[in-house]
Amino acid sequence: MNNSTSMKQVQSTTQNDEVLDVRIVNADMPALRDSDVLVRIEAAPINPSDLGLLFGPADMDSAQYSSDSGSPSIKAPIPPHLMSGIEGRVDQSLPVGNEGAGIVVSAGESEEAQALIGKVVGFSGGGTYSEYKSVRANQCIEMPEGTSPAQSASCFVNPMTVLGFVGTMRREGHSAMVHTAAASNLGQMLQKVAIEESFDLVNIVRSKEQEDILRNIGATFVCNSSSESFLPELTEALVTTGATLGFDATGGGRLASDILACMERAAVSQDAAFSRYGSTVHKQVYIYGGLDRNVTTLNRSFGMAWGIGGWLLTPYIQVAGAEELQKMRDRVSGSITTTFASSYTKEVSLTDALSKAAVDEYRKQATGLKFLINPSL
Ligand SMILES: NC(=O)c1ccc[n+]([C@@H]2O[C@H](COP(=O)([O-])OP(=O)(O)OC[C@H]3O[C@@H](n4cnc5c(N)ncnc54)[C@H](OP(=O)(O)O)[C@@H]3O)[C@@H](O)[C@H]2O)c1
Repeated sequence: MNNSTSMKQVQSTTQNDEVLDVRIVNADMPALRDSDVLVRIEAAPINPSDLGLLFGPADMDSAQYSSDSGSPSIKAPIPPHLMSGIEGRVDQSLPVGNEGAGIVVSAGESEEAQALIGKVVGFSGGGTYSEYKSVRANQCIEMPEGTSPAQSASCFVNPMTVLGFVGTMRREGHSAMVHTAAASNLGQMLQKVAIEESFDLVNIVRSKEQEDILRNIGATFVCNSSSESFLPELTEALVTTGATLGFDATGGGRLASDILACMERAAVSQDAAFSRYGSTVHKQVYIYGGLDRNVTTLNRSFGMAWGIGGWLLTPYIQVAGAEELQKMRDRVSGSITTTFASSYTKEVSLTDALSKAAVDEYRKQATGLKFLINPSL
C-alpha cells in the first residue's frame, strides 16, 4: 500500500507568451476506483510521439536548462507562426509519456484488480513519466512471470501499431506492404511479424547500417533511399511482392509520392494494354508519423487509382473491436522478449531525462537511440 499523497511527474506547458515550460512537479497521487490498480512505474520509453507533447513546436536549440534545488526545468521559445497549431493546449500543464510498465502496488476492491497485486504490467494512456499511475485493471497487459518492467515498457505503442498495420493490410485486401524509416524500433518488430506471418515486406531505409540491421533479422526486401538506384530497386521489389499498401513514418518530402509512383510502375508493367488513366490497381499509402518536417510533396504520376491518408493506432483499435484487441494484447505479452523486444541506449531518472545532455541525444530520434525513463530511480 502506498500512503504518499503526492508524486513526481513531468509536465509540459506551452504558454501564451510563446514559451514552452517543461518541469517536474509534485502532483496528487491518483485516486483508485474499485476496478483500478496503482502501478509504481519503473520504465517508460521516450518515443517520437512523446517528443511531440513534451516539446511541441518549441525551438529546442535555443532552450534554457535550469535546476532549482535539484529540480530541473526547461524553457524554450515557440516560433510565433507555430502557435496556431497548439492553440488547444495553451496554458495547460500536461503530463507526458504515452506508455510504460511497472509493478502493481495496490488495487481497488474488484477481483480483477486484486489479482494483479505484485504483478508486472504494461499499459498506455498518458502520464507515464510519473512515479505512479492508476490504470483500469482490464487495460493492463499482464506480463509473463520473470519479465522485468524494462522489458515490458514498450508493450503498447509500437507492437500494437505493427499488429494494426497487419490488420489493416488484411482488412483492405492487400497481400504485402511497404514500410519507411524501416530500421526503427517499430520497423524491426514489423519485419519479425512479416516473417512469422509469411507476408512480403518492402523496407525503405536511408543508410547501409540500417540495411544491415534489417537483413540481420531476416529481411529479404530492403531499399536504400540514399542509393542512386533507389527508385528502380523499389519498383523491382514491388513487382516481385505485389505490395500495394505503404506505411510512411517520414510524412514530409516526396517519399509517399515516390512509393505510389513505383507501385503504379509495377502495376502497369503487368497490364496487357495501355490506359491513359493508368493502372486500375488501387494503391494506398498511409502517413503514420512525422519524422520529416518538410512539406509533403505529391508528384501525381501514379494514375487515378490511389489514396493517401493518415493512420493512427487509437482509431484502429476502435475499428478492430474488443476481441481482436485482446488477441493483440495476448500476442504482445507472449512475445515481449522476442518479436516485440525493444532495446534502449540509456536508462535515466525523471531528473536526468530533463538534462541538456539527455535531451540533445533522444530528440535526434536516431536508429537504436531510444531512452528509457525509470521514475523510481
Ligand atoms: N500513427 C501511430 O499510431 C504511430 C504509432 C507508433 C509509432 N508511430 C511512429 O512510428 C515511427 C517510428 O517510431 P519508433 O519508436 O520505432 O522510432 P525510433 O526507434 O526512434 O526510430 C526512428 C527511426 O526514424 C528514422 N528517421 C528519423 N528521421 C528520419 C527522416 N527524416 N527520414 C527518414 N528516416 C528518419 C531514424 O533513422 P536515422 O538513424 O537515419 O535518423 C530511425 O531509424 C515514428 O514516426 C512514430 O511517431 C506512429
